[in-house]
Amino acid sequence: MRTQEDTSGVSRRSFLQAVGVGSSAGVMFATMGAIGMAPTAAAQPRAESWVGPRGSDFNLTGRSAKKVVIVGAGPAGLASAYELQKAGYQVTVLEARHRPGGRTLTIRDGDSETDIDGVTQTARFADGTYFNSGAGRIAQWMVTMDYLRELGVPYEVFTNANADAYLYNERSGATPGNPIRYRTAKADVFGYTSELLAHATDQGALDQKLTAADKQNLRDFLQRWGSLKADGTYQGGDNRGFSVYPSAWNEHGTPLPGPGTVSEVLASKVGNYFPFEINWEQSMLMFQPKGGMDTTYQYFVRAIGTQNVLFNSPVTAVENTTSGVKVTYSAPNGKARQIEADFAIVAAPAGVMRRWATNWGPGIDAALGEFAIGSPAGKMGLQYKSRFWEDDHRIFGGITETDMDLAHIWYPSYGYGERKGLITGYYNTGNSARAYADMTPKQREARAVEQGVKIHGEKYRTELEASFSVAWHKVPYIEGAWAYPNTESAGFKQLQQGAGNVYFAGDWMSEVSAWQHGAFWSARYAVQALHQRVMTT
Ligand code: PHE
Repeated sequence: MRTQEDTSGVSRRSFLQAVGVGSSAGVMFATMGAIGMAPTAAAQPRAESWVGPRGSDFNLTGRSAKKVVIVGAGPAGLASAYELQKAGYQVTVLEARHRPGGRTLTIRDGDSETDIDGVTQTARFADGTYFNSGAGRIAQWMVTMDYLRELGVPYEVFTNANADAYLYNERSGATPGNPIRYRTAKADVFGYTSELLAHATDQGALDQKLTAADKQNLRDFLQRWGSLKADGTYQGGDNRGFSVYPSAWNEHGTPLPGPGTVSEVLASKVGNYFPFEINWEQSMLMFQPKGGMDTTYQYFVRAIGTQNVLFNSPVTAVENTTSGVKVTYSAPNGKARQIEADFAIVAAPAGVMRRWATNWGPGIDAALGEFAIGSPAGKMGLQYKSRFWEDDHRIFGGITETDMDLAHIWYPSYGYGERKGLITGYYNTGNSARAYADMTPKQREARAVEQGVKIHGEKYRTELEASFSVAWHKVPYIEGAWAYPNTESAGFKQLQQGAGNVYFAGDWMSEVSAWQHGAFWSARYAVQALHQRVMTT
């Protein structure tokens, strides 16, 4: 979840609605129609009816499959290559970094990353322990799930919400060492708001809006929702949880202290975290590939053929020629190499592409400038000797939310029952992410630990074994976490049409940026546009 420092998913959506986004796909195809490129209605890649290019498209029409260079082995690039190759296109993927996945980056023991300042970290993690430093969760409705299934990637539930995880707002009332469990916060917030609404209803404040029957239904609901007493007041209750849970033989449980007054509960602002659970992008439950999010991209590379994916091969130039494209890259031995192809799909971060030598003109460069994935975000994996969050705090997965600059703590949704474990010790954005990015890895760890002990006690410090952090705006060839695309802008429409024989793809080209889903769909649209062109010329 993004903090207030950044646009939240929710407000981003309202923003898009405010500027009148219906479906940019519609706009794209209308535009393509105008230039004679629109696919037939039946071939339009709607979510329910995506039909990728097929070998029979060529066999049956006597056309030969074309050659396509794809730049970027992240989700958009690999999905583009994969979908094209299924139909017989000859594909070569050029990746600047040493591994696939892009911002889907899983760190395991022995993995090394060097940031753009030249700072190198090497992970020293236990066997089987991993840290998803970028993409970390998949909603069920996302097309990402379809690719996991199609490729045979094993997956499991990712616990995105946990009633037993904590909320901790030290800027608005929480004292150190006094975090509140989600369930307790919900009981109190729902309880008091229900009491107030029931009171307003009884006072006739809603008489203009509600019939007598409506009012009765509302009262019944509020009674349950807010655990109200018969007199309509909220006085706490079992739903808040217990300090000692009920067991047997008249051990009825020891209630938690509280609730505070309605003013205290409102002032704590804990209720502001609740919309996250119904955020459309974050809809529960969520999923993760077993063994790390980037497993998906290892499967993609295998499917495409390792010989067709070239790593450590940063692109320096992409040029349209009279018959296709010419792509120049620097091979792992440092020598410049060129590949000629009929088309290119460039699925690199927009800001990075602007540095290539290109002949697509200043209009495209300016458009790319609007979609640089410049927002910062950072994450740190903290590996611990013991799983104290499970042993002592009884938190088995989920997320603790805070108003500290570490923002979110993610507990692992894997490795239950093992001795060691790894939590995401911070996940922040905006200014907090910048502040952490400017520290050394050791300083970042110290800062995260100093805050974490306020919630989890000294074990957050004493059990720590190893850490690894990623500041996304400092990752070479990536340089940011995400962009907030205005898909109604003129520049965006230009990018949708491509530049000559070059097509653009990436989550920043989608309606769902900052998700693999968006990257995959942008790849599908680029592939569709390219294929349609091939089939009509
Ligand atoms: N996909 C990222 C995440 O789940 C960023 C994001 C957060 C996108 C919240 C939308 C809403 O953390």
